[in-house]
Amino acid sequence: MTAKILVLHGPNLNLLGSREPEVYGRFTLTDINNKLAEQAAGQATLQFLQSNHEGALIDAIHEARSWADGILINPGAFTHYSYALRDAIASVDLLAVEVHLSNIHAREEFRHKSVLAAVCVGQISGFGWRSYSLGLQALLAAIQEKRA
Ligand code: DQA
Repeated sequence: MTAKILVLHGPNLNLLGSREPEVYGRFTLTDINNKLAEQAAGQATLQFLQSNHEGALIDAIHEARSWADGILINPGAFTHYSYALRDAIASVDLLAVEVHLSNIHAREEFRHKSVLAAVCVGQISGFGWRSYSLGLQALLAAIQEKRA
């Protein structure tokens, strides 16, 4: 059975490609989504959403209850302080994997803390666009295991 995955990108990630490329790389969000779609072919269907608004991300997580098996999320800066996003993930019975392009633990101190990590299966950080790819791989494996 193919898995259905909600891929969420948080604030400022719409600017990938031109946003601090030395930190986040040259891939655009479309490039990343295309890579994920290619990887998912035959094993998962993906629905993508990028939003700069906390509430829109929360609404998408709530809606995912009715159709998705899991969530792949780069929460952007919300990672570090959004209790509302954390509670949304904790409120739905869906496996979630948190990903970051940059290594948040090697950057400013305020980025070291993720308030979402504890309600996710795990966190992948520091591998550029490949963090998403590794995250998708881990999420699909976790969904398979849950089903078995
Ligand atoms: C990020 C890391 C966050 O600290 C930052 O606010 C982002 C991107 C990453 O993918 O490396 O917007 O989530």
